[in-house]
Amino acid sequence: NAKGRLVVVSNRVALPRQTATGGLASALQAALHELGGLWFGWSGKLAAETGAEVHRLHDAKVDYATIDLSRADHDDFYTGFANGTLWPMLHYRPDLVDYQRSHLEGYLRVNEIFAQHLCQLITPEDVLWVHDYHLIPLAAMLRQRGVRNRIGFFLHTPLPAAGLLIALPNHRELLETLASYDLIGVHTTRDLRALEDYFLHEAGASMRLGGRMRSAGGRVFRAAAFPISIDTAGIARTASDAGAHKEINQLRTSLDGRALIIGVDRLDYSKGLPQRFEAFARLLERAPELHRQVTFMQIAPPSRGSVLEYRQIRRELERSAGHINGKYATPDWAPLRYINKSFPHRLLAGYYRSARVGLVTPLRDGMNLVAKEYVASQNPDDPGVLILSRFAGAAQELPTALLVNPADTEEVADALQRALNMPLPERRDRWRAMMKVLEHNDITFWRKAFLSALTEKAPVAQRRV
Ligand code: UDP
Ligand code: G6P
Repeated sequence: NAKGRLVVVSNRVALPRQTATGGLASALQAALHELGGLWFGWSGKLAAETGAEVHRLHDAKVDYATIDLSRADHDDFYTGFANGTLWPMLHYRPDLVDYQRSHLEGYLRVNEIFAQHLCQLITPEDVLWVHDYHLIPLAAMLRQRGVRNRIGFFLHTPLPAAGLLIALPNHRELLETLASYDLIGVHTTRDLRALEDYFLHEAGASMRLGGRMRSAGGRVFRAAAFPISIDTAGIARTASDAGAHKEINQLRTSLDGRALIIGVDRLDYSKGLPQRFEAFARLLERAPELHRQVTFMQIAPPSRGSVLEYRQIRRELERSAGHINGKYATPDWAPLRYINKSFPHRLLAGYYRSARVGLVTPLRDGMNLVAKEYVASQNPDDPGVLILSRFAGAAQELPTALLVNPADTEEVADALQRALNMPLPERRDRWRAMMKVLEHNDITFWRKAFLSALTEKAPVAQRRV
């Protein structure tokens, strides 16, 4: 669509010159930076009323339009339904789901306000691309208001099997609204199978040619897997230039020749951090020869502190980190550096490159961009080793990482030992295979693949609104 702009809609917006922690913000920032367009979403701020005014900003090729949330809408929509109900559900944790009807009402209320504002912001030629679990019903609400634009949706989380999804109260009312999009993107074929299975067996849809489905309501839409990625070449450059930053040299000097293991995650229970700390402790217990020879640095910026489980896991990790250092530290060495702060990409790339091992062990993860960033940041002559959870979407594309089950402490400790001892030729072979995948499927490839599938001329049957 030559005339139309790209309009990206997401709850989280990476405003210019802000460190936006999270895969969605990192990826969309990179994608919009290239193509330009409008990015609409939450300002990240609270106000007396939701959406009373639209804050506009322009930077490089991107227009930003954001709205504030009221305290009540933030509590019901963001904390309550999006992160207290949908997030645990989508990450295979029904035990953590806290469902309250008032939260669902708040979620629908905020989606309506997003729809109202969007109607004012778009022209009929624009292509809309809505992101993530915060905004599932948005297209249906836009269609009700007469919007006929192409609208795509991308889910950044995993999608569990239908058998689990049906545990969500009112699941059908919510999930069926996905049929109002023209294209639904997920990360992996496993997620795609789950989506199709849900629509075909729980929501009365039927299969059509070319990956299309026809919903019970008669609308034809498409779903496909588009594994999200990173600006591979850009990150590789940033990492190789990182030696110029004093922070990177300070880290390297402080290591004093010790091997570095790095972890970088939002402080989220889906990331498997307690299990990771335990595996590291197990390594130290088993391999006294590694004492004073290795340092594990875990960067874990706090996330979603308004949700109880996030506060709990933070306390749990503080205890665990204190315990590990208390037990193994010596006057000149602390095995674990645990940092509750976020860092900009330009420094992260240098930290990744300084690390012999990237330890990425989520219990479930849609993709996990940190795994990809770690690979892209390595020195081709002396690359580090990626240890990666089988339950991250990235494992599908990076089979030459050391793949582990994060719940198996011994297996993760084995992988750590193996990574720390891995000879250079094997490290290079494994790394090259991963880098090749990332050079091909980078953020540009992802964006183009999704948008060309979304804007491709559709058969007449698909034109129904
Ligand atoms: N990130 C960052 N600074 C930090 C920690 C993380 O910029 O201090 C970025 C990281 O580089 C990556 C994203 O946040 O691009 C995390 O994405 P990922 O897919 O790994 O996990 P998510 O947070 O989306 O669950
Ligand atoms: C994940 C989600 C994103 C979210 C990000 C950070 O990547 O898929 O939608 O933006 O985490 O979480 P936050 O709640 O801070 O936006």
